[in-house]
Amino acid sequence: MRFDIFTLFPGIFEGPLRESMIKRAIDAGLLNVQLHNIRDYAAGKHQVTDDYPYGGGGGMVMKPEPVFAAVESVLGIREQGSGSGDQDTDYQSPVTNHQFPIPIILLTPQGRVFNQSIAYELAQYDRVALICGRYEGFDERIREHLASDEISIGDFVLTGGELAALVVLDAVIRLKPGALGDPEGASDDSHASGLLEYPHYTRPPEFRGWGVPEVLLSGDHAKVDRWRREQALRRTWLRRPDMLTAVELSKADRAFLDTLRQAPDE
Ligand SMILES: C[S@@+](CC[C@H](N)C(=O)[O-])C[C@H]1O[C@@H](n2cnc3c(N)ncnc32)[C@H](O)[C@@H]1O
Repeated sequence: MRFDIFTLFPGIFEGPLRESMIKRAIDAGLLNVQLHNIRDYAAGKHQVTDDYPYGGGGGMVMKPEPVFAAVESVLGIREQGSGSGDQDTDYQSPVTNHQFPIPIILLTPQGRVFNQSIAYELAQYDRVALICGRYEGFDERIREHLASDEISIGDFVLTGGELAALVVLDAVIRLKPGALGDPEGASDDSHASGLLEYPHYTRPPEFRGWGVPEVLLSGDHAKVDRWRREQALRRTWLRRPDMLTAVELSKADRAFLDTLRQAPDE
């Protein structure tokens, strides 16, 4: 899978791309990350990428020309806009009108809030473009006429889209077969199945007087599976009851949740 990342600060990606799962995915040929410095596409001696907002106010706004030029050039999109004689073929979102196969995603706190199902959705694509904002954000015409999607990584404001792009990239690429050491690793994760994951324990069996649940040492796989399912249900019920309304529950799951409701402390 290829990620084209458009940024004014490509150096931010250096460390994260050279470590751990992302590095292994790159080395294994599962992931190809191409960083594109938006400044390289800015015209003029000073290669200016931002300007004052019309209407006044503080902060700077990312100019449309370098962002359009970078994305159109790298992705091979024909130049669009009313000035290019294309008025009759109104430029719509490249993905939603199914004319362009690569999602062009703006990272913005105003986008749809990223979650595991959006990660699965993006993992279906062979190629994804991520555009990182800075300053007060993007000139609105970038959002209206270039992007096909807008993603926020949460209800808070970062200084730039680079960390958000890394969050999206990490969450998506670990879903690709072969990216994790354990091929089943992602399927039990919190949110993958609609529940929070069950608790984990490792050696030693006793640490400072705190033990490990007996069932995990029993070697009985059916019992371990049931215990894990119940712990996942319990944890989700305690911490994220909203998630239980969306998940498919078996008869046994429902019975277990009923016992929890009747005796929550047991
Ligand atoms: C300081 S923010 C601009 C925020 C903008 N003035 C607003 O209120 O919507 C600069 C850039 O950081 C990125 N960013 C900030 N918070 C983000 C979030 N929660 N998710 C994704 N990107 C974010 C975006 O690319 C944004 O253009």
